[in-house]
Amino acid sequence: MYIAILGYGTVGSGIARVLEMNSECISQRAGEKIEVKYILDLREFPGDPLEKKVVHDINIILDDPQIQVVCETMGGNEPAYTYSKEALKRGKSVCTSNKELVANHGAELIALAKEHYCHYLFEASVGGGIPIIRPLNDALTAEKIVEITGILNGTTNYILTHMQTDGAAFEDVLKSAQEKGYAERNPEADVEGYDACRKIAILSSMAAGKTVDFRQIYTEGITKIGQIDFEYARKLGKTIKLLATSREEKDGYFAMVAPFLVGEENPLASVNGVFNAILVEGNTLGECMFYGKGAGKLPTASAVVSDVVECARYPRGSGKVFWKEGSVKVSSIDEASGRSLIRVKSEDEKQAKELFEIKEILRLDTHPEEFGFVTEKMKERDVKEKLDKLSGVLGRIRIKS
Ligand code: HSE
Repeated sequence: MYIAILGYGTVGSGIARVLEMNSECISQRAGEKIEVKYILDLREFPGDPLEKKVVHDINIILDDPQIQVVCETMGGNEPAYTYSKEALKRGKSVCTSNKELVANHGAELIALAKEHYCHYLFEASVGGGIPIIRPLNDALTAEKIVEITGILNGTTNYILTHMQTDGAAFEDVLKSAQEKGYAERNPEADVEGYDACRKIAILSSMAAGKTVDFRQIYTEGITKIGQIDFEYARKLGKTIKLLATSREEKDGYFAMVAPFLVGEENPLASVNGVFNAILVEGNTLGECMFYGKGAGKLPTASAVVSDVVECARYPRGSGKVFWKEGSVKVSSIDEASGRSLIRVKSEDEKQAKELFEIKEILRLDTHPEEFGFVTEKMKERDVKEKLDKLSGVLGRIRIKS
């Protein structure tokens, strides 16, 4: 089976490497040999073993009837969207790691694949190398999915882990994550939580069977987290994780992405470095956790190649991805409730005590100019209203219940 790779960056070049490293077992499982015929990229790759396969015109790939599968690892919406649509319309399956495109146009591309008897597969778009899309499609089909909560971004988990364990500075660890090939081309997508937001939107859409629009998901990143937050976290016996969470509600879904204080008893607390984990709660199964490397060249490429193998096994498509067009109502964060750690300037202690029923003041010897406290379980709307009345608020982190 001949395939083409669109975009020869971290993941694209990883696909060629995985196919070469595991060629024999992949052929056995696919039932035929899988060969890269073209690589589409704007650049040349002199010295690369596949340099002769590089082309600059998508039509060479689209017009070649030998190409059955296109691996789209370009990232971003365009031209990936147009190229994917054109490939599907010609009956060529598309396997992608592009979460932005899947979150934006997943339902439409899945429907197009079905119409043309081919596949639109996206195992690599969530959790890097962790199998999560196929289990949701194939294994958890008897479950009503009640909640999904996960660490869905490798870069930010790597940053938070090193900030906590080595006292490292945010910028230094981000640089190291970029060097390791974990971060997005524009790392703002990682650190501001946008990448995790798209991933929880994809998982929620699969659970709901209709699109959960990522634009409606409340999203906060980790750029405001500093060493001092880890000091408070230690006092509370917790760690800080960027969590993406969604749950079914009476008339729709609630979803959010934000840094949370996570207690040591929670399995997500021990997910460190570039690892990701996804806790799926089903109504009869209870909790089920998926764990593995959430970013990086080979783990992510392995997930794309597993989709290619699926295409080889079922060359006329399977139509089994349960995500139809139409959207699900996403509730506003205002009604969500929980406890938070709030940091305030010392001079505002009296005012803070009047506004919140503070049971215990947390002080750090290293920072006498401020204090912290944990709120009762309160609605987001009420927390915001009270915080607006306090002038010396230094920070707030939600606590995972
Ligand atoms: N930048 C992403 C991450 C890559 O760090 O998780 C994998 O989607």
